[in-house]
Amino acid sequence: MDKKVLVTGGAGFIGSNIAKRLIRDGRRVLVLDNLATGHKNNIPAGADFIEGDISNYELVKNILSEVEAVYHLAASASVIIGAKNPVFDLENNVKGTIVLLNAMRDSGVKKILFPSSSTVYGQSELPYVLQENQKLNPMSPYAVGKIADEYYLRSYANMYGLEPVIFRIFNAFGPGQDLDNSDQGITGYVIGCLLQDKEFVLHGDGSQTRDYIYVDEVAEAFVRAEKTPQAVNQIMNLACGARTSLNDWMNLIEEVSNKKIEKITGNQNRLADVMHYQADNSKLQSILNFKPNIDFKNQLLKTIEWAKTELNK
Ligand SMILES: NC(=O)c1ccc[n+]([C@@H]2O[C@H](COP(=O)([O-])OP(=O)(O)OC[C@H]3O[C@@H](n4cnc5c(N)ncnc54)[C@H](O)[C@@H]3O)[C@@H](O)[C@H]2O)c1
Repeated sequence: MDKKVLVTGGAGFIGSNIAKRLIRDGRRVLVLDNLATGHKNNIPAGADFIEGDISNYELVKNILSEVEAVYHLAASASVIIGAKNPVFDLENNVKGTIVLLNAMRDSGVKKILFPSSSTVYGQSELPYVLQENQKLNPMSPYAVGKIADEYYLRSYANMYGLEPVIFRIFNAFGPGQDLDNSDQGITGYVIGCLLQDKEFVLHGDGSQTRDYIYVDEVAEAFVRAEKTPQAVNQIMNLACGARTSLNDWMNLIEEVSNKKIEKITGNQNRLADVMHYQADNSKLQSILNFKPNIDFKNQLLKTIEWAKTELNK
């Protein structure tokens, strides 16, 4: 029988979408998640689920005996939480990753796909287009933790022949994103407020820009990378390469949903917020032969339809 693929954080937004995609591809999937921010009902039918923490070495080592590759999505994914509690961010995101790497080393599992983040770049200057080899300028403990994880992965590749692929994901959106948590991804939260007639608290003037990417495109990149030998030991931006202001993004959500977002304005930018992100995704295109699809209207429509169903449950 084929070995399984371990998806840590598979009850969360990106992990559950990757798990779904892997199952669709006929893979055997095992989700490990402590349900800190994830939800059991995100886990796709057909996946095995173990509720537990990545920092539990014995548990993870045991699990890895039947695993051929690790998609490591488990983390505290919030810049805000990391800024408020850097020690928690360090323990959960960095120490947790090291425990997982130790368990991989000790069980001989080599392939790991890892989501780093655009936040490692920090504030940038015009024209804001970020390349993987530029100087990093982390503005938050979360970003510092992602850089540490990148280097731990590299050092384990060097010492033990681990085969890491690292993506710096920009701003993912799509079905499965939390609709009620203002500390998590912005798109899910805006849509959650809109559909539940709650006021959305806008921080800053909405001119901050992000490089949005639909979660199916993220899953596609991860799955391709697992099977692409040239991707091993690479760091790739994972984004569409387009910059959209939050104001334009909210206008698009209003247009697609045919409903007005009630906003509370006049608030300062959030702690550790970065003004502009836009990726150069040419490395992704050349290594994986993959260009993420930008069809924002349709992708937002699918997200809103999913959110309506979710809120009616
Ligand atoms: N969403 C984005 O736009 C984005 C951008 C860049 C990087 N990332 C990274 O992608 C990964 C997934 O993010 P997401 O948006 O899906 O977040 P999420 O919060 O929806 O998913 C994270 C999952 O990990 C689980 N988890 C957290 N700590 C754990 C632990 N110690 N042990 C076991 N499970 C644990 C949570 O319960 C949750 O289900 C994270 O590493 C995040 O930093 C996300």
